[in-house]
Amino acid sequence: MVSIDNTNSTTANGHGAAAAAVDDMSTDPPAPESNGSQPEFDAYRRRKSTILPLEVGTRVNCRWRDGKYHPVKVIERRKHFSGGSNYYEYYVHYTEFNRRLDEWVHLDQLDLGSVETDVDDKVEDKVTGLKMTRHQKRKIDETHIEGHEELDAASLREHEEFTKVKNIATIELGKYEIETWYFSPFPPEYNECTKLFFCEFCLNFMKRKEQLQRHMKKCDLKHPPGDEIYRDKTLSMFEVDGKKNKIYGQNLCYLAKLFLDHKTLYYDVDLFLFYVLCECDDRGCHMVGYFSKEKQSEESYNLACILTLPPYQRKGYGKFLIAFSYELSKKEAKVGTPERPLSDLGLLSYRGYWTRVLLDILKKHKGNISIKELSDMTAIKAEDILTTLQSLELIQYRKGQHVICADPKVLDRHLKAAGRGGPDVEGSKLIWTPYKEQN
Ligand code: ACO
Ligand code: ZN
Repeated sequence: MVSIDNTNSTTANGHGAAAAAVDDMSTDPPAPESNGSQPEFDAYRRRKSTILPLEVGTRVNCRWRDGKYHPVKVIERRKHFSGGSNYYEYYVHYTEFNRRLDEWVHLDQLDLGSVETDVDDKVEDKVTGLKMTRHQKRKIDETHIEGHEELDAASLREHEEFTKVKNIATIELGKYEIETWYFSPFPPEYNECTKLFFCEFCLNFMKRKEQLQRHMKKCDLKHPPGDEIYRDKTLSMFEVDGKKNKIYGQNLCYLAKLFLDHKTLYYDVDLFLFYVLCECDDRGCHMVGYFSKEKQSEESYNLACILTLPPYQRKGYGKFLIAFSYELSKKEAKVGTPERPLSDLGLLSYRGYWTRVLLDILKKHKGNISIKELSDMTAIKAEDILTTLQSLELIQYRKGQHVICADPKVLDRHLKAAGRGGPDVEGSKLIWTPYKEQN
């Protein structure tokens, strides 16, 4: 099961604060709602003094931005500068939601009556045989539910430990101020920063707005470096070779990691090509999103990482980028598949794309068609076709073999559920030579 949320919390510059949402706080958090009787208040204070400050690993309910209480786990804590000597704020993970919603909260958002602490005795994980605390084991079980099944327990633990607290809370990019979702390993000199200012064209990042303003006066880029390989009205795609534009490639990876959870940051950008989607106007070509692609992939990956920047999400650009990656595969006369693991949003976008493309063909096709033929027509890898059709229950076992059942009414129902595609990728507007042939 994956939990999807509405996380596009973006504000145009100058409108509203985008940092991790925290209320004004007093040094002493208010008592829970009560009829105000003295004994009850005393009991509350006694309980509070025994459990505060909360330990990392504590489970408790926390008031979220929807005004309701949700179960959280305390991931980290830190003393709050303006509070009393024992006043902490807590970095919490909402166990029902994706990690991108983890945030710092104040004590008055927590319902101390619901506190549950984990005992740290070691238990054995049956899958891995590793000894771990009950708390760690629950963490792994939970994360697996969130769709990270493909990471083994050890690498998952390592990943969680290093990335548990988001470092940069907001970025400025072009006309947008954007709340970030995950940790990104910026160089150590940025350790103290909670906000970064990006040049929207060369993607250099700075600690202060004035530095960015000075930079913008001398930066001569008005679009990503590299070749414009596609243009359709105001939409453009640029191909950037990580070897020729190393700094740009690295900057893009730092930026993208803020919105990608289980992806390793590749410093070795030489091995990748970056396809950057832009909306163009008279001020320049503004980055909307991108995908990266290994120059050579033994696993037939045609896409490594995909991102639509939050202000541009849910407009069909993700579908456009996915369609574009298959268009490149068709030109290479290869089948392709995205690198795993897929995020919750990545899986939804791919499932939608595969469903639409395959069912459109099945609807129009007369006579028999095999998975291999579907794969040849679409450049979608056979395994992905099979899992998509299986998940839609369109594969049946009849007379000793698997057949695709394409009842037009069922196809229409699934197609409707899969939603619309993004902007069309016009194959004729793609001016591109595959990497191998370029070299
Ligand atoms: N809630 C529910 N469904 C969603 C959401 C959401 N917040 N976001 C996307 N979807 C689903 C919907 O089905 C949507 O179609 P619909 O709008 O017709 O209902 C579909 O995904 C795709 O929508 P698009 O508008 O085409 O995609 P978008 O431009 O928003 O980009 C992407 C999708 C790239 C996955 C984006 O969410 C993103 O950048 N996420 C963060 C990075 C990430 O997770 N990347 C994938 C990692 S896996 C990998 O890189 C191989
Ligand atoms: Zn610049």
